[in-house]
Amino acid sequence: MSYRKNSHISVSVILVSVFLVGIVFYNEDVKSLTQFPFTKFQLRGNSVVLDSPVNRGESSNTLDKDTAAEYDENIKFPSDDCDIFDGSWVYDEVTHPLYKEEECEFLTSQVRCMKNGRKDSMYQKWRWQPKDCDLPKFSSKLLVQKLRNKRLMFVGDSLNRNQWESMVCLVQSVARPGRKSLIKTGSLSIFRLEDYNATVEFYWAPFLVESNSDDPDMHSILDRIIMPESINKHGQNWKNVDYLVFDTYIWWMNTLKMKVLRGSFDEGTTEYDEVDRPVAYGRVLKTWSEWVDENVDPNHTMVFFNSMSPLHIKSSDWNNPDGIKCALETSPILNTTTPPSVGTDRRLFTVATNMIQSMKFSVQFLNITTLSEYRKDAHTSIYTIRQGKILTDEQKANPAIYADCIHWCLPGLPDTWNEFLYTRIVSRS
Ligand SMILES: *[C@@H]1O[C@H](CO)[C@@H](O)[C@H](O)[C@H]1NC(C)=O
Ligand SMILES: *[C@@H]1O[C@H](CO)[C@@H](O)[C@H](O)[C@H]1NC(C)=O
Ligand SMILES: *[C@@H]1O[C@H](CO)[C@@H](O)[C@H](O)[C@H]1NC(C)=O
Ligand SMILES: *[C@@H]1O[C@H](CO)[C@@H](O)[C@H](O)[C@H]1NC(C)=O
Repeated sequence: MSYRKNSHISVSVILVSVFLVGIVFYNEDVKSLTQFPFTKFQLRGNSVVLDSPVNRGESSNTLDKDTAAEYDENIKFPSDDCDIFDGSWVYDEVTHPLYKEEECEFLTSQVRCMKNGRKDSMYQKWRWQPKDCDLPKFSSKLLVQKLRNKRLMFVGDSLNRNQWESMVCLVQSVARPGRKSLIKTGSLSIFRLEDYNATVEFYWAPFLVESNSDDPDMHSILDRIIMPESINKHGQNWKNVDYLVFDTYIWWMNTLKMKVLRGSFDEGTTEYDEVDRPVAYGRVLKTWSEWVDENVDPNHTMVFFNSMSPLHIKSSDWNNPDGIKCALETSPILNTTTPPSVGTDRRLFTVATNMIQSMKFSVQFLNITTLSEYRKDAHTSIYTIRQGKILTDEQKANPAIYADCIHWCLPGLPDTWNEFLYTRIVSRS
């Protein structure tokens, strides 16, 4: 009896230690989230303008490449009953990547892995193949036709910003030089295609609700406190948008419990309660779901919710004892016998799916978690920035500390997330 009890105790001690180590890693990684990644800015009025070649009036070489035939009737869309998230990764250097890193002037240094020194490029060339159907061929022209006179907005944390950057690159090639711009004003970044009157936007709200981490530039706060029932301050910026894409996950991951403010920041309250992560997540998504049900017109707007973007910080999760976090990985996990277990908090997945099912509004759930868990090869790792600067050689030599195994290189995995979005937007509107 006492032997069994002891072995239980030591197992829990090990589990707790593993968790604490995990928290340290999260904290390290999360520090690198804290800078807005654009490298150069211009001031124009009270807005910040990305200093891109276009804004400097130089020409860009991205002229129309698609032929007319490419965006008409020949693209086939999967039927609604096909589960496009169930499938496998297929190496396909003919169709992927969907754009070249050096062709997208809007990519930030945070995600330009090749430019930052990454040598292997296979990570750009995997295509997601659903089991029972095919994803449609991606056509930026077709997508932009659907976005004409419309706004597409990503709302959430830096993973949604990662996906927003991907979407900007996926559509920007349709515009002539000087007919596209990227402007950041406070929490909102707007990429505009002038000739289409279309925008692709990103709104920073890492918890969706109000929190002490809402400053779009200075949110280096490890002691995070949220107001789970307060969403209107952010929500007023989401009204009348045609396509809304939400996510919230990574900022929940550095403590087991979430700090919930007892009053409001405006009243100067500092007292808080500590609430179990899934409970607090449920309160936040309840507030969010009520906001959507009350404020979004289903006749005009499509709403998407991204499931969690996974991390790869323990190479033993994929049986590579010689690995260092995600830093040495050059191919996905290809053994699909059982889905990989990389430490994702699946409880939050369940909270989200239950919440979405209970809503009046029909939200499109983008089930990207499992398929992304295979992609240990796709993170920015050491080919990224920290404190606004590309990692030094010394830092690159120390991936155990400096590798970012949260964010993803572009071109790369977030392009696939956008292929799902494209599939839904183009086939249902
Ligand atoms: C999400 O997709 C995975 C496969 O990628 C599947 O196993 C799981 O059941 C899906 N979950 C939901 C809620 O659709
Ligand atoms: C441009 O797009 C906005 C929505 O993004 C819309 O309200 C406006 O009417 C459009 N302008 C024109 C001229 O169609
Ligand atoms: C949406 O369209 C339907 C059918 O055209 C209409 O009955 C309904 O009132 C509309 N809903 C809103 C919120 O405008
Ligand atoms: C694939 O994974 C399963 C379960 O983790 C394992 O039993 C099996 O040996 C693996 N197959 C290969 C070829 O590695």
